[in-house]
Amino acid sequence: MFEARDIETEDKTVFYRELAQQLEALLHGEPDPIANAANTAALLFQTMPGLNWAGFYLMRGGELVLGPFQGKPACVRIAVGAGVCGAAVARRSSVLVEDVHAFPGHIACDAASRSELVVPLIGPDGVIGVIDLDSPSVARFDAADQAGIERVAAIYLAACAQVATPALAAAS
Ligand code: SME
Repeated sequence: MFEARDIETEDKTVFYRELAQQLEALLHGEPDPIANAANTAALLFQTMPGLNWAGFYLMRGGELVLGPFQGKPACVRIAVGAGVCGAAVARRSSVLVEDVHAFPGHIACDAASRSELVVPLIGPDGVIGVIDLDSPSVARFDAADQAGIERVAAIYLAACAQVATPALAAAS
């Protein structure tokens, strides 16, 4: 059984190194994208202090649709280019918002949210979704968080790509 460990450090480099190790162990050998998104959201929400929402939006028919998450119920559909999540898809890069009240078009799913970090999931054929983190504190996220969550996105994508083809399975 996997048991998530709390990560007690003020050092974000140490924090994200341990988070990455836990996530790799949690997703190891499991390619299902929904199961892996659910466990990733749960691990982020349990281990990261100061969050009120952590989860996924996944591309479905050209728009973002709510995926697995932890936190309050959220808006279901977000167009590419809309809000912080849609901006991350349109730019194909992470968007770090220190104060959501100063971000034009921010979509408020929880009125308590004050800062946000969105990292796109970029697969071989383009953006397949985003990881979205919200905090009730202004400027909760910085460049170290962005780098750490980009590593989380890479681990998620690598795990989901681990589908053995019949030929490979037969050869092993
Ligand atoms: N604030 C996001 C919407 C999603 S919720 O935060 C969960 C945005 O502006 O895209």
